[in-house]
Amino acid sequence: MIEFLHVHKTYGKSGKAALTDLTLTVPDGCVYGFLGPNGAGKTTAIRLMTGVLKPTEGSIRVNGVSVAEDPVTVKRSIGFVPDSQDMYDRLTGWEYISFMADIFGVSEKERKEAAEKYLAMFELESAAGQRIQGYSRGMKQKLNIIGALVHNPPVWVLDEPMVGLDPKAAHLLKTEMRERADAGATVFFSTHVLEVAERLCDRVGIIQTGRLITEGTPESLLKGTNESLEDFFLELTEKEEAEEA
Ligand SMILES: Nc1ncnc2c1ncn2[C@@H]1O[C@H](COP(=O)(O)OP(=O)(O)OP(=O)(O)O)[C@@H](O)[C@H]1O
Ligand SMILES: [Mg+2]
Repeated sequence: MIEFLHVHKTYGKSGKAALTDLTLTVPDGCVYGFLGPNGAGKTTAIRLMTGVLKPTEGSIRVNGVSVAEDPVTVKRSIGFVPDSQDMYDRLTGWEYISFMADIFGVSEKERKEAAEKYLAMFELESAAGQRIQGYSRGMKQKLNIIGALVHNPPVWVLDEPMVGLDPKAAHLLKTEMRERADAGATVFFSTHVLEVAERLCDRVGIIQTGRLITEGTPESLLKGTNESLEDFFLELTEKEEAEEA
């Protein structure tokens, strides 16, 4: 479970809030899609829950543990797929997985099993012995995902994870997200691919200029309309923009 309680975030002395009063609960067993235009605050919220950033106000709990009070326990419980691919280019794929496994104290046996499973799943076995610097964008993203899963985290947080993946890999990733949630994990991800969100997510939240403007199951948001989530998203965010202006 992930809980945001009245979270505000302002970067530095900019004065402009990146997040305003974000209150949100993501239950266990849920695939949660976090949607919003560029600059809305999605990555900021994700960085706050993973302890990379500190909130200006408010609190965040992951499986009941406060990120501010016990960041190490929280970090151990999260598998984080960041939006950047700032990886250690000189490592090989295997070395990178091993490095992530070391950080999370994963046994030799478990890391080998996880690495073999996911390298095979993403057809990355033959590249695993090569240095990351020679990987394509999609290959790096696959490795990023494997590195976040090696410790079998109860909470999986992904920032625009589909970017760069081919259709097959994206499909495998969606299946893995669904299966992990069905097994009780919490899966939280940001995306701009609204068809994916509509089909995959148990709940979605739409954020705009740092404020959560709506939240619920895709069915409840679209209730009574024949709209797609994409139509709904475009109408809602345009309306909010007009109101702000
Ligand atoms: N390191 C930073 N320093 C100052 N301002 C920042 C920083 N990172 C983000 N911001 C600002 O915070 C706001 C939210 O940015 P954020 O990256 O969270 O958006 P996002 O929803 O992830 O957007 P995108 O869809 O483009 O990834 C933006 O106004 C952005 O300019
Ligand atoms: Mg972002």
